[in-house]
Amino acid sequence: MKLFHNYSLKQLNTFQIESIASYFVEIKSMDELLELMREEVFKNNRILILGGGSNILFTKNFDGLVIHPTIRGIEIINEDSTWVYLKIGAGEIWEKLVEYAVKYNWGGIENLAYIPGRVGAAPIQNIGAYGVEIKSVLQSLTAVNLKSGKQKVFTKDECGFGYRTSIFKTRFRDDYFITDITLKLERTPTLKLGYVALDDYLKANNILKPKIKDIFDAVVNIRKTKLPDPEKVGNAGSFFKNPLISKDEFVHLKKKFPQIRSYPQNDGSFKLAAAWLIESCGWKGKRQDDVGVHHTQSLVLVNHGEASGTQLLSLANNIQNTVKEKFGVLLEKEVNII
Ligand code: FAD
Ligand code: EPU
Repeated sequence: MKLFHNYSLKQLNTFQIESIASYFVEIKSMDELLELMREEVFKNNRILILGGGSNILFTKNFDGLVIHPTIRGIEIINEDSTWVYLKIGAGEIWEKLVEYAVKYNWGGIENLAYIPGRVGAAPIQNIGAYGVEIKSVLQSLTAVNLKSGKQKVFTKDECGFGYRTSIFKTRFRDDYFITDITLKLERTPTLKLGYVALDDYLKANNILKPKIKDIFDAVVNIRKTKLPDPEKVGNAGSFFKNPLISKDEFVHLKKKFPQIRSYPQNDGSFKLAAAWLIESCGWKGKRQDDVGVHHTQSLVLVNHGEASGTQLLSLANNIQNTVKEKFGVLLEKEVNII
């Protein structure tokens, strides 16, 4: 375990923002984490766990200790004729895990293809795309309490999953270090269709009886046309969540803005397409200096080169204000601001 001092995080966040961590360390195993927790540098500093940095915006240097999990391993811990139970280390790359599952025809995460980041972060905001969230396949996860050092296994129900949230973003924010997760995957995949963009893609490509690999390829291809590649243009995916509003609020808004894009929810509320709200305020494709709103997806803020974290945050706040003014709706940030 090597401790670095004044470590640049520029290559470790997909916005590609420069930020210097006072201390930086990689953790390869649970034992290394427990060993680190006995060190003064751990006890005397603020802690930030940094996975792939694809859901983080640095607005300043980090005056503390950054821990980067590189815990590896994909292991079958149980199986029967229907299910495969996979235990995966927090440091594995999510995209590689999806490729691996698809290769073996284990169903459940193919709709979550091509989402950047590490496995340990996936439950934090209950990653979701194309009609699936990780909560539908997560069996349990192991986490270490950063104050007591105690390990705890959280079952799916204990994780408090919701749309882009979990107990690790709310009640236990910054309290736990996730070291591994266990997924329950299907040997004979039940494909999750029904998401309009996915179904349209399959139809347009004449794929009438899709297999798991067809879903994987479709999701990857759709994503490539919509979202900027962080290797080329710094971004963190959707900057805001899609807002949830009550039926009454929705009826009122729909009268005023008949074109509004919305999705009715099972509990009677409505989810609005934040991208549409932002585009309707004239932000799509806008750029000032190196800070901008992506030209094909207005929910994605971009760093065209040398943008700073504060410039991006200021753009995000301006967007929030104009959306609030025009629609009376508050956009909540999805990205973690440091
Ligand atoms: P980081 O950004 O490093 O960290 C995110 C948060 O998790 C931080 O608060 C961090 O402290 C915490 N954390 C990280 N690892 C651990 C751990 N082991 N234990 C405890 N806390 C931890 N998200 C979606 O849900 N759906 C999408 O479709 C999607 N598309 C994206 C597309 C692009 C182009 C990009 C750049 C991002 C996208 N995202 C999407 C967001 C992002 O990929 C996910 O949130 C991902 O899970 C973040 O993983 P990470 O390792 O990069 O986390
Ligand atoms: N739209 C616009 N303007 C735009 C872009 C989209 O009006 O600039 C409209 C589209 O026409 C569509 C609606 O907005 O009617 C939704 O767009 P899209 O299908 O692209 O999905 P999204 O709601 O913008 C969400 C997630 C993504 C996820 C996709 C696919 C959130 C905050 N974002 O985006 O997740 O990949 O659905 O399921 O829920 C992320 O979290 O980082 C992320 C990329």
